[in-house]
Amino acid sequence: MKKILITGGAGFIGSHVVRLFVNKYPGYHIYNLDALTYAGNLENLKDIEAKPNYTFIKGDITDEAFINSLFAETNFDGVIHLAAESHVDRSIHSPLDFVRTNVLGTVILLNAAKNSWKGNYDGKIFYHVSTDEVYGTLGDEGFFTEETAYDPHSPYSASKAASDHFVMAYYDTYGLPVKMSNCSNNYGSHHFPEKLIPLMINNIKNNKPLPVYGKGENVRDWLYVEDHARAIDVIFHKGKIGESYNVGGFNEWKNIDLVHLLCRIMDKKLGRAEGESAKLITYVTDRPGHDLRYAIDATKLNKELGWQPSLQFEEGLEKTVDWYLANEEWVKHVTSGDYQHYYESMYERR
Ligand code: NAD
Ligand code: TYD
Repeated sequence: MKKILITGGAGFIGSHVVRLFVNKYPGYHIYNLDALTYAGNLENLKDIEAKPNYTFIKGDITDEAFINSLFAETNFDGVIHLAAESHVDRSIHSPLDFVRTNVLGTVILLNAAKNSWKGNYDGKIFYHVSTDEVYGTLGDEGFFTEETAYDPHSPYSASKAASDHFVMAYYDTYGLPVKMSNCSNNYGSHHFPEKLIPLMINNIKNNKPLPVYGKGENVRDWLYVEDHARAIDVIFHKGKIGESYNVGGFNEWKNIDLVHLLCRIMDKKLGRAEGESAKLITYVTDRPGHDLRYAIDATKLNKELGWQPSLQFEEGLEKTVDWYLANEEWVKHVTSGDYQHYYESMYERR
């Protein structure tokens, strides 16, 4: 049985990857390592937690002694590394948390894999999941390709860029068998409601102001989270060692247009008059260093590995809205306590 370590598997994307791998590969044992920060929630994995090929391990990737002993105890065949601090606004307030987890934590994992595999790399894979935000920002035209130079602007993207460089440095220096992908913005179920789409869904439902940063002109390229999980599966199994793959939806939206679309969908679902939810839109102070536009060219992944997005955006958004409306308890649990303080401190000043 192959032993695969997935880090950050209790988070948004990680839980979809864990679910896909546990269900699709009964011949793999999936070890989900997660510190269960505010963003990690075992409720995300209730449907698979009793499966015989699944084990949850609570632990912090920055705890070097613990990580080394975990790798010494279990000779993992593969690592899929998703654990990270992932929210740009939090990175602006607490950059050191991002350096610690995203940079230090990644290097501790790389080192543990190198030391435990001892140069015997046959069949081993260290797969690092990264973001398109490392490329910086685009003007009105063009796309990020795998050759685009890194130019991160937020502490979050700078920490992910640093971790990507360490991953490639371990390949170049020690021959560690690494793979990497840089994906655009994800959306779907189990997304923590501090990010744009779930935050707007939650606020529309509760008749709270919809805080649009600046003029709402910034553009993001949205991909359904299950399509990202499928891309990770394909790259993990078929991607070339030492290479990175861009993953994206060819689906660009200005924030303000996306918020209007969500308002229209929710007006229908909640039986409100058309235009009612849009009255909640409130323009607030812009995010410092706010990247204008992200857009991914995913041609390499499509041409070489045959991957493509499966869902149209409106269909994916409707599914997402339906999930949030049917899972109010989940939202209540993850937004109680600490998140409430975060929300107040982040938005009261804007
Ligand atoms: P998330 O914030 O929802 O989940 C992160 C998970 O990592 C949580 O379960 C958290 O408990 C865990 N974690 C955090 N610090 C840890 C630590 N020190 N040790 C162990 N576990 C820790 O994030 P996400 O949106 O699911 O993103 C997952 C990965 O994908 C990240 O590496 C992120 O950079 C990348 N990514 C995200 C997006 C996106 O749109 N969300 C897009 C591209 C790439
Ligand atoms: P976010 O979901 O935080 O993802 P990222 O910054 O990693 O792309 O934000 C997506 C876009 O939405 C980004 O341009 C910032 C904007 N935004 C708002 O306008 N209001 C909000 O309350 C949030 C959280 C984001």
